[in-house]
Amino acid sequence: MTDSWQAHLLTLFPDMFPGPLGVSLAGRALQKGIWSLDAKNLRDFASDKHRSVDDAPAGGGPGMVMRADIVAAGIDDARARLHDAPVIYLTPRGAPLTQARVHELANGAGAILLCGRFEGVDERVIEARDIEEISIGDYVLAGGEIAAMVLLEAIVRLLPGVMGSAQSGLDESFEGGLLEYPLYTRPQDFEGRAIPDVLTSGDHGKVSAWRRAEAEIATRLRRPDLWAAYKARGTREE
Ligand code: ADE
Repeated sequence: MTDSWQAHLLTLFPDMFPGPLGVSLAGRALQKGIWSLDAKNLRDFASDKHRSVDDAPAGGGPGMVMRADIVAAGIDDARARLHDAPVIYLTPRGAPLTQARVHELANGAGAILLCGRFEGVDERVIEARDIEEISIGDYVLAGGEIAAMVLLEAIVRLLPGVMGSAQSGLDESFEGGLLEYPLYTRPQDFEGRAIPDVLTSGDHGKVSAWRRAEAEIATRLRRPDLWAAYKARGTREE
């Protein structure tokens, strides 16, 4: 057994990992053993001599589809090493990723991440292995690898011992259902623009109130969807 948060990846491009997750905050955490990464090539689960993992879509149409039997073999292999962890397929058809789901995943033991290529994965393995489908946004990437990295970076920074100051996680965007307030630092004058007076007043109460108001304004103007959810929650709690 290991105490590390375990990321098991199934991909046709294992060399893409850890990639950007090998440097900075996530990279240091990887070195410290706070999380671990195991990227397996799905071709290792193919049985024919060409190591083929895909075939033409039933019913016709463009592109190729990843075979259910090969994906299932990869998942079963990962599950043998990481029991009871969610299996997540990164796909634009998935549920939009949220900070709430990122927290849940960070609180678990790890995840098995399936990175698709080609047109996608045979639907039957998604059902048969109870795979969760997650999208990182309404746009289409060439494959799931970079989406998996996005998900992992979001998770890893929440693991205990990764973020420098515990406070830096509390005020940020999405944590209270609001976007974060704007930030300023020196110089006091930048091209004729001053730092708002309240921030240099030394009055912590006023600073908090100002930040709260600015977070609300930003959320209302930029993300009417988040704002509506925030307001609905407030009324229910009152
Ligand atoms: N694979 C391709 N596009 C994707 C997206 N938007 N989110 C997650 N996985 C993907």
